[in-house]
Amino acid sequence: MRLVFSDEFKHQNSELILNKFKSISRRKFVRYGGLILLAPVIYAWNELVGGEAIKTKPKAIQIPEGAIPQGFSFHDQVIIFREDDELKIFLSKCTHLGCKINREIEGKLVCACHGSSFDKNGSPLNGPAVKALKKLSFRMDRSKDLVIVNL
Ligand code: FES
Repeated sequence: MRLVFSDEFKHQNSELILNKFKSISRRKFVRYGGLILLAPVIYAWNELVGGEAIKTKPKAIQIPEGAIPQGFSFHDQVIIFREDDELKIFLSKCTHLGCKINREIEGKLVCACHGSSFDKNGSPLNGPAVKALKKLSFRMDRSKDLVIVNL
């Protein structure tokens, strides 16, 4: 069976469909347009309030002093060089492209990514890195036998 529609029927229905599409489209526009207009405001608010709060929040890690041997030792995000009771603490992020440094070869810190090496002061010995490792501040909590490192 084949349905045959008159031109008038087709015209009425096409107008109906077009009007329905326009109203849906308008609603969608208002709904999603509002979100699009709010996005920069939300972003700016986050940068001013939320983002700043996160950025300024101090971070620190605690390492038991007894877990720090003489020479280099690796503790998650930090590298510690201990010489007697003197500690030097560095961020383990290579200053070339940011790989994590987690090995020592013949008294030098060596980055596995491109081979940069650093001495016990964090200074570069061989490139491609040219900047020293980031030195981190820390304090000793003698009552708990902890080294508290500020990241
Ligand atoms: S990231 Fe360390 S040498 Fe390139």
